Amino acid sequence: MIKVSAPGKIILSGEHAVVYGHPGLYASTSLRMNVELSKSSRKLDLTSYADYAFNKALLSFGVKNSFNYSFKVNSKIPIGSGMGSSASLAVNMSALAQKIAKKEFNLDKINKVAYEIEKKQHGNPSGGDNTIITHGGFVWYRKEAENLKVFSKITPKKNLPNLYIINSGTPKETTGEMVSLVREKYEQSPKRIINILNKIEFCSKEFLKLILDENNTNLGDLITLNQRLLEELGVVSSQTRNLIGLLERKKASVKISGAGGKTYGSGILLVYHKNPDSLINFVKSQKLDMIPVTLGGKGVKIEK
Ligand code: MEV
Repeated sequence: MIKVSAPGKIILSGEHAVVYGHPGLYASTSLRMNVELSKSSRKLDLTSYADYAFNKALLSFGVKNSFNYSFKVNSKIPIGSGMGSSASLAVNMSALAQKIAKKEFNLDKINKVAYEIEKKQHGNPSGGDNTIITHGGFVWYRKEAENLKVFSKITPKKNLPNLYIINSGTPKETTGEMVSLVREKYEQSPKRIINILNKIEFCSKEFLKLILDENNTNLGDLITLNQRLLEELGVVSSQTRNLIGLLERKKASVKISGAGGKTYGSGILLVYHKNPDSLINFVKSQKLDMIPVTLGGKGVKIEK
């Protein structure tokens, strides 16, 4: 029996822009997914993403016979809501396969295979999600080219204040569809979109300097700026924009995190408030939950 686990993720700044080679600032969360392997004679169903991911990982680590294994997934990461549930599954499967293949535990190899699995989810991932989920902590990530993805692990120089998550609803669109939507806009009006992506890069760098204690920028202002730019990109539904508007009236700073969604919900929202208790009644009145999120959890690991 082998058990592995990997965290979910938050993008502090840079989603969508990372697909175009801009940097992104990522953090892992304390919410994790466990995958437990057992022996079985079950046939893999490659139309299911979990089985596809497992099979692809086994093949990548040179394991030919995949029919002896089965697995149980147990996850606290909301599915399809921007917290990296699919990347966490890919990373877990990759770590399991590396262990089954009796190879030494190697994060870079786990990450590489997870990236290949992620391509099934959307054709052109930046690779940022699998990287933060593999390595954990805080990561500054940039895809320079398909074969040159660079990242640095960041040690925050000052503690971020408490951040919260509110789920605005599972988006109707997949990450792949949201990435394609931005691509269409990029092709239609490149100048406009390039301008927004450059501003997102500015925002990501200010965020980086903030956590490295190199500027005095206000965290709430950066979150709000990032959110406005994502709205301009068209990845936030009108329903979610309304909800964010109401939260902003209560003096919260809020952004989507991840691919977003344009028809209905836009996934989880990252929320900052100087006095978060003052939001509790409002959030309840909207029949929503606001949960604290601890950032910087450990990356993928083999559980004892
Ligand atoms: C999804 O979590 C983040 C996106 O930037 C897509 C990607 O980086 O592959 C929207």
